[in-house]
Amino acid sequence: MLGSGGRECAIAWKLNQSPRLGQLFIAPGNAGMAQYGTLLPVKPMDFEAVGQAALAHGIDMVVVGSEDPLVAGIVDYFKGDERLRHILMVGPSAAGAQLEGSKDFAKGFMQRHGIPTAQYLSVTRHNVEQGVRFLESLEAPYVLKADGLAAGKGVLIIDDLDEARNELRAMLDGKFGRSSATVVIEQYLRGIECSVFVVTDGRDYRLLPEAKDYKRIGEGDTGLNTGGMGSVSPVSFADEAFMDKVRRRIIEPTIAGLRAEALPYCGFIFFGLMNVGGDPLVIEYNVRMGDPETESVMPRLQSDLVDLLEAAATGHIGDVEVSIDPRYAVTVMMVSGGYPGTYAKGKVITGLDQVEDSLVFHAGTALDGDGRLVTNGGRVLAVTSYGDTQLEALERSFGSVQRIGFDGSYYRRDIGFDLA
Ligand code: AMP
Ligand code: GLY
Repeated sequence: MLGSGGRECAIAWKLNQSPRLGQLFIAPGNAGMAQYGTLLPVKPMDFEAVGQAALAHGIDMVVVGSEDPLVAGIVDYFKGDERLRHILMVGPSAAGAQLEGSKDFAKGFMQRHGIPTAQYLSVTRHNVEQGVRFLESLEAPYVLKADGLAAGKGVLIIDDLDEARNELRAMLDGKFGRSSATVVIEQYLRGIECSVFVVTDGRDYRLLPEAKDYKRIGEGDTGLNTGGMGSVSPVSFADEAFMDKVRRRIIEPTIAGLRAEALPYCGFIFFGLMNVGGDPLVIEYNVRMGDPETESVMPRLQSDLVDLLEAAATGHIGDVEVSIDPRYAVTVMMVSGGYPGTYAKGKVITGLDQVEDSLVFHAGTALDGDGRLVTNGGRVLAVTSYGDTQLEALERSFGSVQRIGFDGSYYRRDIGFDLA
């Protein structure tokens, strides 16, 4: 398992439950993940070191948690080395990972395959005037996206047309470095978002539970964007009729499109969707699971994750059944005071042994010199609970959050409140 956040912690927790798991190695992991496997001090972007660790430990399968190594070609690196070629890779090739690595590519792909998405225009230094005219043809607010990966910061939503014109130029001039040498201008979609996840072998797929995440720091979805303050699964509006549209209009044409364009793909696809009056449109593709959605999704997956991922990596996803826990799972993220601005690290975390009703997935945690568990990031712990209703699950998570302490901790109390 490659990665070190709450998402990877939830995946490691789930892998660890498989009777088929021999040994789990996690690179680099965090303090909480040590309970599910052996941590290795290897950076996921250092492909040579990852390859060497895989050989040294006789690893059979690599699960890549985040997008960076996939977009940079870690799967191609393994497939291109005869000593590593036999290792099963859960994740797309660099070509497939363009679905996330380039917004311009993703929009073109959707257009080629008739997949519903917002109207758009891709702009570079060579067609700025056309870009400005396209902006002027749209209604506010204006959506500007850096084409490449920008650590979640490359999307601007701007109310004022003048400001949008200026930002377009600033982005093309390098506001997000090379990532914004191309800018995608999009029509703004009004609706409610949800995240849909599949595991695919490139031909067929299995649906995982859908989820909704809460990105803003403040209650009522106000304030700055964060890496995610909580999530719920299932999502009330993602009923059978909606999910049927998602399958037919979005998931199936996407997988068929990957095949038609010979883009090697196995692993997770994350469809960031907007529900516009009952119709799903794609806001974005991601080539990995969502964080913090995974912390609500993995607890609802009853099937063996090793079986599922092995089937994806070997082209047999059609042979596996996926069963889902019907209960709600609600995740509340405990963050460091000040996040997403500046915040302190190294605050001692207490009370985890008092938590009875919830799962606690570690995100930014570490052990200090004295072996104490301390905060080591903005997002610190993801606290997930089950319930027969969403409210019951939420209240259990709050009960647990209140038993956990660290100096300056903050969390949102309205996770899921916008859903019936
Ligand atoms: P992205 O990185 O493409 O997911 O964009 C980040 C966030 O910006 C999304 O989760 C949405 O909340 C918002 N967003 C992106 N594109 C649009 C759009 N076309 N219309 C409305 N909101 C959008
Ligand atoms: N929760 C959104 C993401 O992982 O990108």
